[in-house]
Amino acid sequence: MPGRVILDTDTGVDDALAILLAMRSPELRIEAITGVSGNTPLDHCMRNIHITLDVLDAPSPPEVARGEDRPLVRELAFAGDIHGDDGLGDVTRMKDASGARVYPDPVQRDSPVHAVDLILERAGQNPDELTLVAVGPLTNVARAVMRDPDRMRSLREIIIMGGTFETGGNVSPVAEFNIHADPHAAQIVCDAGIPLVFVPLDVTRQALLDAELIDRHAGEGGARATFVRDCTARYVAFHRRNRGVNGCFLHDPLAVAVAVREDLVTTVPARVDVETAGDLTTGMTVADLRSQRWGEPNARVCTALDVQAFTRLFEERVLA
Ligand code: BDR
Ligand code: CA
Repeated sequence: MPGRVILDTDTGVDDALAILLAMRSPELRIEAITGVSGNTPLDHCMRNIHITLDVLDAPSPPEVARGEDRPLVRELAFAGDIHGDDGLGDVTRMKDASGARVYPDPVQRDSPVHAVDLILERAGQNPDELTLVAVGPLTNVARAVMRDPDRMRSLREIIIMGGTFETGGNVSPVAEFNIHADPHAAQIVCDAGIPLVFVPLDVTRQALLDAELIDRHAGEGGARATFVRDCTARYVAFHRRNRGVNGCFLHDPLAVAVAVREDLVTTVPARVDVETAGDLTTGMTVADLRSQRWGEPNARVCTALDVQAFTRLFEERVLA
């Protein structure tokens, strides 16, 4: 039986790729997609979820719910320089030869239920069965914990794309974007007593999608590969300029892949906490991956990735 999953996302270019992978994975039943502010304002995030689902043209798309439009405590901060003004590599401005928008505004089909309520409702309906894959700031998840911690403890686990442990940050020397965007929410989730799996930058930076591979598949004209090429063009340019690679990191798709096939990664148990107060270190994920002497583990942290197997999975399911 496919594993029940809710995908919580701040869609975002790599979030869109994560939606594609999740929806194309028969091992998963995507119960709902919940939106949260992060890479881009919440309105853009919701539009981007629907644009991505429209590319798939799935017969029965999942329920889509609006979540929190700002972090618990910190000021809002987006990542337009990486994900574009629209959060989706500026595909919403693309026009075809006749001047028509290639990706027009989708029909808004947001659930009347708020994302936090939907997460709690589905957790209650499926005790010990539901996995939450969280690939944006943890604001929705923390709000759900604050509202009903017992019900959230009935989740099977939360797989979090977030944090960095031994290889440095992407928004500061020590912090990763999702955790940095709402560190107070992340600490609430760390303290919740829910099984957690962290998929940090240490492994997601190994998950490189090669630009030539994208172009090769897009050249065959399929809707998914064409969309991947269109929405990643700007994101790839960012990676070429700033990361010295000809492609882009598949941060969020890797978190989905861990829900599909956990054997793709190696994990170690650890006590993870988040710095919420430091001037220089806000959003740092603090853990000692070599020893458990600083506290009972509250998470498993991914430390290694089977890069080839993951890349093959992504190529077969999303690009081909
Ligand atoms: C994370 O931050 C966002 O830019 C990406 O969507 C990913 O979730 C990587 O740090
Ligand atoms: Ca994201």
